[in-house]
Order: sequence, then C-alpha cells, then structure tokens
Amino acid sequence: MSERTPAVLFVCLGNICRSPLAEAAFRAEAERVGLEVEVDSAGTGDWHVGDPPDPRAQATAMVAGIDISDYRARQVVEDDFFRYDHIFAMDAKNLANLNAMAPTGATAEVTLLLNEVKGREGTNIRDPYLDRENIFAYTWDVVAEAAKALAERLAR
Ligand code: 4NP
Repeated sequence: MSERTPAVLFVCLGNICRSPLAEAAFRAEAERVGLEVEVDSAGTGDWHVGDPPDPRAQATAMVAGIDISDYRARQVVEDDFFRYDHIFAMDAKNLANLNAMAPTGATAEVTLLLNEVKGREGTNIRDPYLDRENIFAYTWDVVAEAAKALAERLAR
C-alpha cells in the first residue's frame, strides 16, 4: 500500500455518463479492497456543469445497487493536474484534451482508463450519450472491469 492516500480523477466529455459510472464503480471497488482513496470525476466540456448524471447512467448504477443521483457534473480545472495523482481519460479525445489543457509543472499522471485492463490497453470507452442504442450496461461492465483492476493495483 502506498504511503499516502492516492487521489484519482475520472474524466469524460460531459461528466454525466461514463466518468460518473467509473467513479461509482471505483468507489465500490476501493471499499471492497480496503483502499483509502480520494475520488472524483469531471468533464472536459462544460455543457452539463451542475447537472446530475444522465438518467440512463443513474439507472445503470442502480442495477449494481449504487445511487449516483447526488453526483453533479463539473468541468476539469487546472488544479486537478496537481491535486490528483492519476487522471484517467475515457477515450483518446478526452486524453488529447487533457494533455492540451495540462498546466506547466502538472504532477498528475494522465492516461487512458483502459490501460488498466490487460488486453484493452490503448482502447476507448465509447461515448454512450448519443448512441442510438442504450449501451449503458456495456459501459458499466467496461468501467467496472477497469475499476476493479485499478483498485487492486493501487491497494498492492
Ligand atoms: P459522457 O457523455 O462524456 O460520457 O458524459 C456525454 C455527455 C454529454 C455530451 C457528450 C457526451 N454532450 O455533448 O452534451
């Protein structure tokens, strides 16, 4: 176990679909493995700042027994790059946006979330927001797998 409490931030575009689900899954996995950690999620965009998660995301988390109705979207800020040890992007576009907005001297490690999952390194978590099909159950499965791997790695 590392000497101090790690801080982890999950980032997508709107902070109402993928990153809140990643946050919820990771909070649950951290608790399961007894990992003390600071966790939040944020969006690179500002369209949904202050909004609760998308109703489909809320319903999907509920299937796993997790209530995320009190989460509120926020946008990534410069301080995040110093406050968090790990910033996980849901896809390559978010990663590119994060790298573009990273201030000089940023200390956070910024990577793709799926780099945590063996066999899925370098791949994206597809944006479910405008998908014609409801792919949120799939989104949950993917972020939950990554959350499990990450919690187990950080707990070691
Ligand atoms: P998220 O999904 O990035 O997983 O939260 C999206 C939510 C909203 C928008 C795009 C993606 N939007 O364009 O408003």
